[in-house]
This record gives sequence, structure tokens and C-alpha cells, in this order.
Amino acid sequence: MKYALITGANRGIGYYLAREMALDGYGIVMVGRNKERLEHAKQKLKTYTPHIHTLVYDLGDPTAPESIYNDVKKLNLEIDIIANNAGFGSYGLFHTNDIKNELDMMQVNMTSLVHLTHLFSQDMVRRKRGKILNVASVAGFQSGPHMNVYFASKSFVVHFSEALAYELKPYGIKVTALCPGSTDTDFFSRAEVNRKSDLFRHKATPESVAIKGYKALKKGKSIAIPGLNNKFMIQIQRFVPRKAVTAILGIGMSKQPNKG
Ligand SMILES: NC(=O)c1ccc[n+]([C@@H]2O[C@H](COP(=O)([O-])OP(=O)(O)OC[C@H]3O[C@@H](n4cnc5c(N)ncnc54)[C@H](OP(=O)(O)O)[C@@H]3O)[C@@H](O)[C@H]2O)c1
Repeated sequence: MKYALITGANRGIGYYLAREMALDGYGIVMVGRNKERLEHAKQKLKTYTPHIHTLVYDLGDPTAPESIYNDVKKLNLEIDIIANNAGFGSYGLFHTNDIKNELDMMQVNMTSLVHLTHLFSQDMVRRKRGKILNVASVAGFQSGPHMNVYFASKSFVVHFSEALAYELKPYGIKVTALCPGSTDTDFFSRAEVNRKSDLFRHKATPESVAIKGYKALKKGKSIAIPGLNNKFMIQIQRFVPRKAVTAILGIGMSKQPNKG
């Protein structure tokens, strides 16, 4: 049986990605930090497949990707899809933010994603088959004052995935960067961003984002941007000077009643 490994699968977009893949006949490997939350999600997913494994790891730990890969090998599972979904953001001026949290974010959003992709893509190349879904964001298309490192990390994911899609195409491997806009999940409470801000007013459901992302992966699209609004905003800003885009976002993002 073929398996899909999804990081951050216990809630939000990751849970629905796991559900879509289970509905499509995949066994599921769910990775997350919190054992109870993973177990709860596993119980819900059992409606769709009995083949579910949970791996408890903190992707902020640089040794986690290697351990995850070794666990999968011990379980003797063939991972046909890897969905690097786990990620988080932080709100605030860079110089006032907790640097440990910023570095942790870079580890989870970028380094662990690259490391897991490297480990699992070796097997995919050997098999000449596989799919890689990296969850980026519309934030990956411009710089983001007040969420500086988060935006930069997602920009990394967009560019890394786009180039990887090109490199791995001859090996029959599909790579997609899923770039959601504002989505109704716990993301905002962890990032301490107030969702009532104008910039975050239009919220998609995590379910619709996951469905669109998985469809795009199956079609082999290197970039998937769910929502016409989001597509339009990304296209239009190509015709606006970069400095102006940064300034507009800087003003919009500063209206955050949650923080001073
Ligand atoms: N929500 C949005 O508006 C939005 C927009 C664009 C992109 N995204 C991206 O979508 C992805 C999923 O986020 P979401 O919106 O679904 O948020 P969410 O509901 O907060 O889910 C985040 C998931 O990532 C996991 N995670 C976070 N830090 C982790 C770590 N150190 N180790 C292992 N797992 C970790 C969480 O697991 P725990 O439960 O163990 O913390 C959780 O399952 C993220 O990459 C995010 O940047 C979100």
C-alpha cells in the first residue's frame, strides 16, 4: 500500500490534506508535536482509512527529519506523497521579536522541510514516482513588514519548490507549492495576529484549501494559489513598484489591535 506522510496533520490545513489523501486510497503517516492532538485526529481519520501511523516529533529539532525517515523505514512503509505542511508565523517588529522563536520558525518552515524533502525524494527518484506538496503562502510573493521572517520563509518555500518541480520532473515526481491566503485555522492565534485586520478579512476554509492543493498536486502544477482574490492580488502587484508593495503591506499589517 502507498502512504502519504503529512507534517502538522493534527489540525488545520494539514488535517484536511490527510483526509483528502486517505479518501484517495492512501495510508497516512501523521507527524506532529502533540501526542493527544495527533491521537484525536487519528480517531477522526479512521472513518476514511484504517491505515494510519502517528509520529510525534517537534520539527524545530534539527534531528527530527532523520528520525522520522528512520521510523518510516522501520515500519517498512512506501511514502508516495510527502506533504510538508507544518509551519507557524510570528507577528511584531523584527528587532523586538524573540529571536529564539524566529530561529525556531526558520527551522520548522524551511530547514526541516528541505531536510525531509531530501530524505524522501531519494526513494522517489529511485522509484521514478512520487509527489511532494510544500505548503507555502501568498506571503511568499512579497516582503512582509511586521511578519518579516515568516514572509521570507514562505518566499523560500515557493522558490525552492518551483526549482525542485523542474529538477524532478524527468524522474516522474510532481512538486507543488501550495500558497493559501488567509485561512480559518489556529495559525493566527499562535502568530498573535488579529484576524479582524482588513488584510485577513477574507478567510478560506482549511478544507477548501486542502482540496485545491491536492488537486493541483495530482495535476502536477508547480504553484497552487487557492482563491481568485489571492491570484488577482499576486498578479496585480507585479505591476506595482516593489517598494510600494512593501509600504502598502507595512501599513496594512501595522493595524493589529492585539499588539501595541
Ligand atoms: N492559516 C493561514 O491563513 C495560512 C495561510 C497561508 C499559509 N499557511 C500555512 O499553512 C500551514 C498549516 O498551517 P495552518 O493554517 O493549518 O495552522 P495550524 O492550524 O496552526 O496548524 C499548524 C500545524 O503545524 C504543526 N506544527 C507547528 N509547529 C510545529 C513543530 N515545531 N513541529 C511539528 N509540527 C508543528 C502544528 O502541530 P501542533 O498541533 O503540534 O502545534 C499544526 O498541526 C503552515 O505552514 C502555514 O504557514 C497558513
